[in-house]
Amino acid sequence: MKLSVYITRKLPDEVLQPLLEKFTVRMWESEEVAVPRDVLLQESERADALLTMISDSIDAELMGVAKNLKVISNLAVGFNNIDTEAAKQRGIVVTNTPDVLTETTADLTFALVMAAARRMTSAERALRDGEWTSWSPLGFTGQDVWGTTIGIIGMGRIGEAVARRAKGFGMEVLYCNRSRNAEAEEMLGALRKELDELLAESDHVVMLAPYTDETAGMIGARELALMKPTATFISASRGGIVDEDALYDALKKGTIWAAGLDVYATEPVPSNHPLLSLPNVTAVPHIGSASVRTRMEMMRVSMQAITDVLEGKNPKHRVV
Ligand code: GLV
Ligand code: GLV
Repeated sequence: MKLSVYITRKLPDEVLQPLLEKFTVRMWESEEVAVPRDVLLQESERADALLTMISDSIDAELMGVAKNLKVISNLAVGFNNIDTEAAKQRGIVVTNTPDVLTETTADLTFALVMAAARRMTSAERALRDGEWTSWSPLGFTGQDVWGTTIGIIGMGRIGEAVARRAKGFGMEVLYCNRSRNAEAEEMLGALRKELDELLAESDHVVMLAPYTDETAGMIGARELALMKPTATFISASRGGIVDEDALYDALKKGTIWAAGLDVYATEPVPSNHPLLSLPNVTAVPHIGSASVRTRMEMMRVSMQAITDVLEGKNPKHRVV
C-alpha cells in the first residue's frame, strides 16, 4: 500500500506531480480558506506525512491522533506553528524551507523600510483620494534611507541579505543576535550591539528574529521609547515579538516615525485593527516570501522533504 500524504492547502497540480507518482495524496481543496481543525485532525489520523502552512497549529493533540505520522513539512522558514518538542518526543521529523526564500524576503523587508520611511502608502492613498492639490516644499516629506543606520534584530540568512542591500544604500549596519555573526561583521562591517543600544542608535530597526519563548514580546513600550522620533520599525518575522498596543501608542504619539508591518500577533489581521487606522503604518498581509518563483521553490523543497523522509533518506532542512 502506498504511503499517505495530506496537504493542508490547495497547491498547483504541476508542482504535485512528483508526489502523486509515489504516494496517496489528499489535499484541502481551497486556496483561500485554511483547513478547519476537525478536518485536519481527521486527515492526520491516517497521514504518514503532512505538508503544512504557518496558519495550521500542529500541536501535541494532533500528533496524539496522528499515529502514522513520520514527517511534518512546513511551507515556511519559521515553524512556531509546530510543537517541535512534541514532535521530537514522538520521533516525528519536522522540516522547513529556508534558503530559497532568503533574498525574496529580504526584498520585501527592504521595501517596507523604504515605504515606511518615505510615507509611500499614505502618500499614494492621498493621491488616489484627490488630496494632492499642489506641490508644497514639505508636502509628503519623510525620512531618508540612504546613508542612515539600520539596526537588524536577528542576523540570520535573511538579516544578512537585508544588510547587503543596506550596504548598497551606503548605510551603517548594526545587529543584535543571540550569537555573534562573524561573517556579517567581516563581509559587511556589521557591528554587534546590545538591544538597547541598537534601538537608540538606529534610524531603521528591522525585526527578523524567529518567534520563540525568548523573543515573544521583546519589543514593548520601554524598547520603543528608546528609539529615535525619526526612526522606523519594520516587523518582518513574526508579529508576537512586538507588543502591538505599545507600537500603536508610539506611532500615534509620534515617539517613532513610522512602521512597516508584514506580520501580526493574530493573522489574518482584521481590517479594523487599530494599527491599520494610522497613516504612518505601511501594512502588507504576510507576503515576505511571496514571489511566484520563490513560492514554487518552497513547494518543491517541502515536497522533496516528504519524499526523502518517507523513503528513509535524510531531508535537507530538518528542524527536529
Ligand atoms: C514565513 O513567514 C515563513 O516563515 O516562511
Ligand atoms: C531564518 O530565520 C533566516 O534568517 O533564514
